[in-house]
Amino acid sequence: MPSDQQLSTKHVLGIKYLTAADIELILDTAREYKGVINRPIKKVPALRDTTVANLFFENSTRTRISFELAEKRLSADTVNFSAASSSVKKGETLLDTVNNILAMKVDMVVMRHPAPGAHHFLASRIDASIVNAGDGTHEHPTQALLDAYSMRDAVGGDLRGKKVCIFGDITHSRVALSNIFCLQKLGAKVRVCGPPTLIPKHIGTLGAEVSYNVDDSLAWCDVANVLRIQLERQDTKFIPSLREYNRQFGITRARVDRLDKSVVIMHPGPINRGVEIDSAVADSEHSIILEQVENGVAVRMAVLYLLAARRKGR
Ligand code: CP
Repeated sequence: MPSDQQLSTKHVLGIKYLTAADIELILDTAREYKGVINRPIKKVPALRDTTVANLFFENSTRTRISFELAEKRLSADTVNFSAASSSVKKGETLLDTVNNILAMKVDMVVMRHPAPGAHHFLASRIDASIVNAGDGTHEHPTQALLDAYSMRDAVGGDLRGKKVCIFGDITHSRVALSNIFCLQKLGAKVRVCGPPTLIPKHIGTLGAEVSYNVDDSLAWCDVANVLRIQLERQDTKFIPSLREYNRQFGITRARVDRLDKSVVIMHPGPINRGVEIDSAVADSEHSIILEQVENGVAVRMAVLYLLAARRKGR
């Protein structure tokens, strides 16, 4: 994918560390790759000299498969590592695990890890380029990039001035933080909406509006990005019950039908149907949830291609 532009960074550790120009470059490159993956022959030779290790220390369906497909579409060699079936279970440290994998001549590392900052720790200690596929409750940059790409398609292009509301469990969500950074760099207005117990007190300092009123926020926004209640990260009770949450804060069909306009509905997955969103909304004509998944492959191809090109000085 010829381009004389380069990313400003050797790694993609978080949206916080990308410039607006980096984001535009990734989204423009992804547009080219979206064309490639919709051709009968979906493969290009761009990374045939590159080996990528996918290291997953946390569960994943979409991100893991999406990266692996992106790598295969770019003709990279790939190795997959899952902590659950590895020597991590015998006490091996993160750095030892990664250095052993890199000794097998790996150029790039895609990693999901439960510890916020694990990728920064590695970036200062290894030579390979690192892509953050989610670090605890911190960032999930490629999700935010594919969300921005999908939003642009849904609203007809530019996100400047568009109103995006992120609904749900903001406190425990890496998708929320990456989306706030990414959308603001692209000029969108961002609001978060959910129960006060699931919205961090400092969130206003990031420039996002805060609302506890779902009906008002649905009426305000052009795009609703709905997040999952992350019960696995909650060690105390933040909501009375899932049923109560759906009643008070769920994106229900009745709420969407009451609007006098159309709102684009998004969700990064996995969905808790009947909790943060009703099936009748997730599967409705307003939803672009499966488009998000499709766009994820093109966006990840763009990220991997641009990082490899930077490594090679192309
Ligand atoms: N959206 C997302 O990160 O999904 P997975 O946890 O299945 O990768």
